[in-house]
Amino acid sequence: MFDDDPRLPKDRRAHWHLPHTAVDTPGTHFSLIREHSEPALRAVADWLAAPAGAHGPHRTSSPPPLKEHDDVRRRPRRQAPRPVLDQQVIDGQSGYSKPFLTLYDLVVYRGTAPLLWRCPPAVSRKLYDSSVGARHMDIGVGTGYLLHHAKFPVPDPRITLVDLNRNSLAHTAHRLRRHQVDTVRANILEPLPVAPRSHDSVGMSYLLHCVPGSLREKGIALAHAAAVVKPGGIVFGTTVLSGGVPVSGRARRAMRSLNKRGAFHNDADSLDDLRAQLDLHFDRHELTVHGCVGVFRAWTAA
Ligand SMILES: C[S@@+](CC[C@H](N)C(=O)[O-])C[C@H]1O[C@@H](n2cnc3c(N)ncnc32)[C@H](O)[C@@H]1O
Repeated sequence: MFDDDPRLPKDRRAHWHLPHTAVDTPGTHFSLIREHSEPALRAVADWLAAPAGAHGPHRTSSPPPLKEHDDVRRRPRRQAPRPVLDQQVIDGQSGYSKPFLTLYDLVVYRGTAPLLWRCPPAVSRKLYDSSVGARHMDIGVGTGYLLHHAKFPVPDPRITLVDLNRNSLAHTAHRLRRHQVDTVRANILEPLPVAPRSHDSVGMSYLLHCVPGSLREKGIALAHAAAVVKPGGIVFGTTVLSGGVPVSGRARRAMRSLNKRGAFHNDADSLDDLRAQLDLHFDRHELTVHGCVGVFRAWTAA
């Protein structure tokens, strides 16, 4: 409608100067996340699942340069098997920029989780509703989507948010501002700077596949979570697996692409290894599979 306005440049479309793949989907800035979200999400899922090489030479851009992490709470490393904050750990959380977080719920809970990993959001919502306690810790919080929708057993839960990424912490703390919330910036591969045995529950939804190392190595994250729950407390979560579970061709291609870009680190993550780690760090556990997602609930000894 403004096309005839001489004051406007001829081509008013936004330009993106970094290497990228352009995909056309119907809609406007507004409808893209509402009535036109379905084709947009399918385009993202198709892009992730496209065969290697189908995107041309400019598919990815380099990760941003390593920034200061001086306020990450560092503790003397007692048992972490990896260097404290290596580049792979940083890559696993660096994608959570402010713009991405505004689209995250849509992309993950209406896009990748149901369409690629075959784990509908209802599975995650039910896991939270049946597991969160009055004093809850969430590790790897993203946007806080599940906490926002969770049914807590008390009207005034106390919630500790733990994440390596400042944007995720700020976004989630703001979203949950109706509750009493503390934030802790920390790497789950290190012991958590939180009082031991202080929480009723710990949630780790879609976290482990972002963390580098085999499950035998990054299983230490489960030990760190177990250390902060009270005796008999629960640690629960989900993770996208690549072995011992049904993985569709599209999901396999998407995983390969995400692993290559450093956003995922799950190419060696099997159901058997997850089960072994739950056995190792907890008194008892339940482990189920939805699509290629391992869903676990594990309890420390009472
Ligand atoms: C895929 S999102 C999951 C978000 C949310 N739990 C959900 O289920 O939607 C992963 C989150 O884990 C965080 N993260 C990744 N690696 C981490 C690490 N080593 N320590 C702590 N947080 C990490 C990321 O910053 C991001 O917020």
